[in-house]
Amino acid sequence: MEIPEKLIQILASAKRVVVLTGAGISAESGIKTFRDPDGLWSKFNPAELASMDGFMSNPELVWDWYQHRRDIINNSLPNPGHYAIAEMQDLFDNFTLVTQNVDRLHQRAGSKDVLELHGNIIDNYCIKCRHPYEDFIDSNVKEMPKCRQCGGLIRPAVVWFGEMLPEEVLINAERASKISDVFFTIGTSAEVYPAANLPMIAKSSGALVIEINPNLTSISHYLDYSFRIQSGIALPLIVEAIKTYRNKI
Ligand code: OAD
Repeated sequence: MEIPEKLIQILASAKRVVVLTGAGISAESGIKTFRDPDGLWSKFNPAELASMDGFMSNPELVWDWYQHRRDIINNSLPNPGHYAIAEMQDLFDNFTLVTQNVDRLHQRAGSKDVLELHGNIIDNYCIKCRHPYEDFIDSNVKEMPKCRQCGGLIRPAVVWFGEMLPEEVLINAERASKISDVFFTIGTSAEVYPAANLPMIAKSSGALVIEINPNLTSISHYLDYSFRIQSGIALPLIVEAIKTYRNKI
């Protein structure tokens, strides 16, 4: 991967940097994306498995699917892309990581204060009284837990289709995008809103926007740089290039 010298210079002097990630950042950890040809939505129906209506019509099926996904995540490790992003938080005065992922691999790689737009798959809460369910959940146990307060069904703390994103998280992500000098959109198809708006908010507010994705997306041609490469390869090279440049000057 060739990183233009001009881009390295801009990155090395950037002060406010935002990184937006999607499922692609975790692809090299062995976690399937959603919209790639072998992605989750090619085999599973999001209306059935990622909506409140789907959960209410067949809670066991939905719970079972999330248990299966938890099992995969528990047995996966962060990859060089996650670690490079964790390193980026110390390279810039102001750094914000926004993710659509629910797998918590960023945090496992050392990223802090991650803005999780779509919640996470580790936590759970009651659908009736919304009380958090904090007992340990073994991803190998089939039986669905019940709320200790009211006996209601327990669901994963992910955002499903038709649900609002956590308001404060979204406000903070939009604010950071608006004031960023540099914005990275990494491993996301940019098909799901409002997350897909963030690169456009950054671009229209004057940020330099860089995409890292092995495939073209619907926003690729609006952006300043679009690298057709896996994030686990590109990000360590970018971090290294910034450090080398700064050490030279
Ligand atoms: P998608 O599955 O829509 O897109 C994944 C993107 O990652 C694609 O553009 C791939 O080309 C790219 N990709 C694949 N391997 C990669 C790699 N090694 N490095 C970099 N990029 C790679 O996933 P998202 O955009 O994250 O929402 O999807 C957004 C939301 O749609 C998800 O959060 C989920 C889903 O429905 C909910 O469940 C609410």
